[in-house]
Order: sequence, then structure tokens, then C-alpha cells
Amino acid sequence: MNKTFPFDTDALIPLFLAPMAGITDWCFRLLCEEQGCDIATTEMISAQGYMTARKSIGAYRRLTARAHFEKPLLAQIFGTDPSWMAEAAKALTDTGRFVGIDINMGCPARKVTGGGAGSALMRDESLAGRIIGAVSAATALPVSVKMRLGWDENTGNAASLARIAELEGAKLVTVHGRTREQQYSGKADWEGIAKVRRAVSIPVVANGDIADGPSALRALKVTGCQGLAVGRAALGNPWVFMELRSALNGEICSPVDIHERLQTARRHAAYMRAAHDERTALLEMRKFFAWYIKGVRGAAEIRTRINTAPTFEAVYALLDQFEASVSDQTAASSQAPLPSKISD
Ligand SMILES: Cc1cc2nc3c(=O)[nH]c(=O)nc-3n(C[C@H](O)[C@H](O)[C@H](O)COP(=O)(O)O)c2cc1C
Repeated sequence: MNKTFPFDTDALIPLFLAPMAGITDWCFRLLCEEQGCDIATTEMISAQGYMTARKSIGAYRRLTARAHFEKPLLAQIFGTDPSWMAEAAKALTDTGRFVGIDINMGCPARKVTGGGAGSALMRDESLAGRIIGAVSAATALPVSVKMRLGWDENTGNAASLARIAELEGAKLVTVHGRTREQQYSGKADWEGIAKVRRAVSIPVVANGDIADGPSALRALKVTGCQGLAVGRAALGNPWVFMELRSALNGEICSPVDIHERLQTARRHAAYMRAAHDERTALLEMRKFFAWYIKGVRGAAEIRTRINTAPTFEAVYALLDQFEASVSDQTAASSQAPLPSKISD
């Protein structure tokens, strides 16, 4: 067992699936875990929303759902009020589904930062510290904090916030190597993450632009971090975890062919149909189908047709047709640039 980490994992360098709103539900997590993701995180959950919504509200049931054969899972909460954050941490702990509580201090979306939550907390270290302290006191589970390098270039205070987090009881920090101002543009600054890693003695997980074996090895070397978290590179490409694990083991793994990609897309859809009503599942799956076929010849045309297909049966017929036409192409997804215009 890896004793550096507060979570139960055997991996020397654990690979995390970074939290992604609208993406990292149990359906997607299972597919990533099959390919070697060691620890996953839920989508972000509003602490106050979770505590004040009627427990029957489907949105929160879905956000906190966990398939029983999943690997270790962190619940990520966001908010600004230490009491609501503490109460949500306690309630989520009591569900017995999670191995840790992660606090979101990195989300750049205006609907979150406008209320002072997410990455806006990086501008108020005192409040951030009180939140981390309150959450740590409310749960027996390890608490982690996910942050960016700072709000903007002039306030790159991730190292300082990480030290506060450690003092307030956090057991791990994940750093996305961009500022809030950068959103998803430019390149992740792994040197900046290294500074945070050197500032604390709790494990630090590096995040940002880790997209394939070579980038994982470089990120590890530059940051010296104890773990790696992958977000966008896993979209339509859960195999990225296998690629990363192979690279860490000094092995090369061959890219998956279109048949495996489409088989996984169909399985993803089957999980989504189990998780949602048919209409929601169909709408939600559109973006995933597009990601699974990205980089394959003819993908743009088939994507347009998938987006207007009225039923899953119609989508499957399109996928069959597509599969027959492309035969054995492999998608160049791991080489494709990461999408930079996504709001979370
Ligand atoms: C669609 C999307 C949704 C996201 N949602 C969250 C979220 O709920 N909580 C969070 O802390 N970060 C969220 N993020 C940020 C990612 O966890 C990650 O930090 C970021 O994408 C950088 O890593 P990458 O370069 O591997 O994608 C989201 C990112 C994307 C693209």
C-alpha cells in the first residue's frame, strides 16, 4: 500500500480522474477505472444546495450516486459558508460512499466565483482557511483541496494557500497549473505546481495538460508531485489512464482501434440509460459520442447526424454504419489538442 496517500491505493503514483461537472458521473468513472484510473472524484456538489434540497431531488441523487464496484471516490463540494461546507462534508461522509472530501477552490466559472466560491476563494485566504478547518473538523475522512495557481498572474498564491490547507488539516492538495484568469488557455505551468509541492509536506497532485505518456512523465519530472490528475484528455479517451500507467512503468501501449472506441461508446450509453430517463441520456450522450469518434475520418458528418437522431436505436444504426465505413482506423485522440473553451 502507498503510505504517502491518505486514501487506500497500491499505486506508487496514483492516477486521478479530475472532477468534471457534467462528465464524471459513475458511468464515465467506471470506464476510466477499468482502464487504470486509481481514484476518481464526483462532479462538484453545491454544499448549501445539497443540504437544503429535498433529498428526493434527482439532481443531487445523481451527483452523489456511486456504483458499488467503483474504485475509491472523493466527493467534491463547493461553497463559501464554512458551516454549510462542514454540514455537507458530514452528510456526504455519512453516506459511506466516499473515501475523502475534496474542496473546490479552482472552478473559474462565473456562476460559481460570482458568489465567492471556487477559485474566488483563492482571493480570500482567511475564509478559505476557515472552510478547510471546518470541513476537516466535520469529517473523519481525509480532506483535500483542489486549487489553481492563483486568481491571476499577480496573485499566484497557491503555495501560500496550500500551506494554510495543510495547517487546517487537509491531507492532500491538487493543483491545476493555471490561474483563474487563464481559464483553460495557454499552457499549464508545471514549474508553478513544483513550487506548491515544495511548500508543503502533504502529497500534491499535479493537474493540467497531462494528456499522454510523454506529458505525464514530463509533468512528474518537473513537478516532483506524488500523483497526477487527468481531466480533458480522458474525454472520449478513458484509455489515457492505461497509456499513462504504461508510460510510468516504462512500457508502450498501442492505441485502441475504432471498434473498441465504439464498443465503449455503446457501453457508456448503456450506463447512461440506466442512470437517466431516455431523453436525458440521449442528450447527455451526444457530446460523449462526438468525443469517442473525434479524429476519425468522417466524424464531423456522423456527429451532425447523431445530434439530430431521435432515439438511441437511431444513434446505434449510425454508429454501425460509421464503423463499417472506417474499418480499422485509429483515432489520433491522444495527439489532439485539448479543448480550451469549456466552462465549468
Ligand atoms: C467540462 C469540465 C468540467 C470541470 N468541472 C470541474 C469541477 O466540477 N470541479 C473542479 O474542481 N474542476 C473542474 N474542472 C477542471 C478539471 O478538473 C481540471 O482541473 C482541468 O480540466 C485541467 O486539467 P486537464 O488539463 O487535465 O483537463 C472541469 C473541467 C472541464 C473541462
